[in-house]
Amino acid sequence: MRAVVFEELGGPDVLKVVEVPDPEPGPGELSIDVAYAGVGFGDVKARAGGYRIGGQPFRPGVELSEALRPGVEVSGRVRAVGEGVTAFVPGQAVAAFTSRGGYAEIAVAPAVTVFALPPSLSLRAAATLPNALPTAYALLHEVGRLREGDTVLVQGAAGGIGTVAGQLARMGGASAVYGVVSSLDKTEHALKSGYDQVFVEATFDADVRVATGGRGVDIALDPVGGETFRRTLTAVGRFGRMVSFGNTSGKEPWQVGAGETYPLGISVAGFSVFSMYSMAEENPARLQEIAGRAFAAVVEGGLELPVSAEFALEDAPEAHRLLESRTSTGKLLLRVSR
Ligand SMILES: NC(=O)c1ccc[n+]([C@@H]2O[C@H](COP(=O)([O-])OP(=O)(O)OC[C@H]3O[C@@H](n4cnc5c(N)ncnc54)[C@H](OP(=O)(O)O)[C@@H]3O)[C@@H](O)[C@H]2O)c1
Repeated sequence: MRAVVFEELGGPDVLKVVEVPDPEPGPGELSIDVAYAGVGFGDVKARAGGYRIGGQPFRPGVELSEALRPGVEVSGRVRAVGEGVTAFVPGQAVAAFTSRGGYAEIAVAPAVTVFALPPSLSLRAAATLPNALPTAYALLHEVGRLREGDTVLVQGAAGGIGTVAGQLARMGGASAVYGVVSSLDKTEHALKSGYDQVFVEATFDADVRVATGGRGVDIALDPVGGETFRRTLTAVGRFGRMVSFGNTSGKEPWQVGAGETYPLGISVAGFSVFSMYSMAEENPARLQEIAGRAFAAVVEGGLELPVSAEFALEDAPEAHRLLESRTSTGKLLLRVSR
């Protein structure tokens, strides 16, 4: 089969399409004929620096050669099921979180991170969801502990996670949802995605103070890190919750002390979708429950993550360049087969 690999860490051009042996599902796994693969900022980070959490390698000790296959999410049809898998049949339409190796004609995933698609959901729409949807849902509801009437601030509001988080915050009963983008061109996209007001990076902290009457927000979600993380923390109000879930800025990992948390009783948390999906081994029912609630927002609530650009497998470098350019909105996909 054809698959995208990278043999060294670096810029987008390290991504190459090569022929590799067709993978077979092991016990508890299934293989998928991939229709579409999602492209996320985590793939960009992995290509440039390996898969990491909080600045540390995701799995300490893993050789680089094991991390050469990008892509953590796909949609497609079940090709084969491994020993012990009874919930899926070949030919069934699914979306899956794959951990890696998603930019390929065939992907393998544990059955617990594979989701059967309702007939109303196309394979194209489904490929946008396995990473962004459970991540945004867990950020708001599990880690951020969203309550009816809360105010929410989201950095990167027009991107993949941001587009989903705005809609989920609104569906979850937030009284106001504020987004931050780097340029005004992205405002329109964000305003269609659940946001009440969208601010630009340069002034967001002052804008939030005005919008909340000086109180600050109840929940803030930050994927940027560095100076943006610090400024976002100052926009969190009494008993508020700040969740860091990325480091697009590439700055040093943050540290927070008593001086920033005691005065207003602010909680600061971190989140990784890898650690949530690793729950598949210890508590598959809990993972399925969270994912089920998140997918209900799509099927019952009409949540959408619009695809703003689609690329062939061999054009994966172009997709990465676009994502890094900070000009994209919504989701980028690789079209593998239909
Ligand atoms: N923790 C987790 O489990 C998890 C899971 C998925 C994704 N993530 C993180 O969530 C963030 C969003 O991921 P995504 O896949 O949905 O990507 P995305 O939001 O579609 O694209 C990344 C966005 O980050 C913003 N950005 C801010 N600083 C940037 C910089 N220095 N370089 C490039 N972009 C910058 C850009 O928006 P503006 O130009 O408008 O600022 C850009 O559009 C990333 O940090 C990713 O690593 C975390």
